Amino acid sequence: MIRYYENIDISERNSFHVQQTAKRLVEFDRAEELPEVFAKYGTEDWYVISGGNNILFTKDIDSLLITPCDNRIEIISESDTTVRIKVGAGVEWDDLVAWSVERNLWGIENLSLIPGKAGAAPVQNIGAYGVEAKDTIRSVEMYFVEGGNFVTLAAEHCAFGYRESVFKHSLKGRVVITAIEIELSKVANPRLGYGDVIREVEARGGATLANIRDAICSIRRSKLPDTAVLGNAGSFFKNPIVEQEVAERLLAEYPDMPHYPAAEEGKVKLAAGWLIDKSGMKGYKEGNVGVHERQALVLVNLGGATGGEVIAFAHKVVATVKEKFGIEISPEVNVL
Ligand code: EPU
Repeated sequence: MIRYYENIDISERNSFHVQQTAKRLVEFDRAEELPEVFAKYGTEDWYVISGGNNILFTKDIDSLLITPCDNRIEIISESDTTVRIKVGAGVEWDDLVAWSVERNLWGIENLSLIPGKAGAAPVQNIGAYGVEAKDTIRSVEMYFVEGGNFVTLAAEHCAFGYRESVFKHSLKGRVVITAIEIELSKVANPRLGYGDVIREVEARGGATLANIRDAICSIRRSKLPDTAVLGNAGSFFKNPIVEQEVAERLLAEYPDMPHYPAAEEGKVKLAAGWLIDKSGMKGYKEGNVGVHERQALVLVNLGGATGGEVIAFAHKVVATVKEKFGIEISPEVNVL
């Protein structure tokens, strides 16, 4: 079914809860309905808004907003060790994680409690606690708007990287993701190497799927604000990837600076949260916007902030980090 809305308030459709209006918004349940949507509104000016968890609206939106609502999870094939699953773009990501943990299937448990829908997972290759969506995604189904045809893209053509994919570059604004196919494992494969995970899992009695999920949920809840209480979009910034010599120069001055090998050789990933924290901005507030008190990567709407206020505040955070460390951090969130 297709549902049409006009001039609607979208404050409950974005996790920052900024109050803006959309001129036209369409929800659709099945991929096959998309041609009808584009026939009605044209193919020129549209934008997909899924769970609204990684987006900052800075103005009222004239473009057509399109929300995928297919929330089916289907097993499509099985071997002795793996299960392949098709997931509608509208499935709440964490419902999928809960579904997999209940069925004793390994692969996405470390991605527990990441807000958002399954269709958005490949776009920024969501990741947490040493695992990324690309580790299990095998293909992505989409509607190619210019051509008016449906395409299935194998994972190796999705150009997945750290918070990156082809959907942020050459396919940006050209496709509507309608489903993903993921492969989960029947064989235990606990990944506990990141931060506090092992300690929290051991405190719960060992590396079962349920314990890992519970541990990750509890770590996330302790650091990340609940969007229902305090509007936010998770990590507002990406962790910057810098040249080795830049990292070495900073490490000489700040030996305790967190740093991780980047996928690209000769480069190092730094922690934006640490950089913001050490710039003295953690907990800093201005008007209706602030840096979260427990995780400096997260900007929060303290109540009634507009998108414009959030972006102005973000620029200030970027400038402060630049001044202190000479590094330019950039938003992970899509700014519209
Ligand atoms: N740090 C500080 N102060 C802070 C925040 C962090 O000093 O206020 C330090 C930490 O102590 C740690 C380092 O910075 O040494 C990294 O911090 P943390 O592990 O908390 O976060 P991260 O690695 O920068 C990424 C993801 C998160 C994800 C966590 C856990 C990005 C942009 N963010 O953060 O993803 O939950 O790892 O894997 O990659 C999201 O994308 O919305 C998100 C929350």
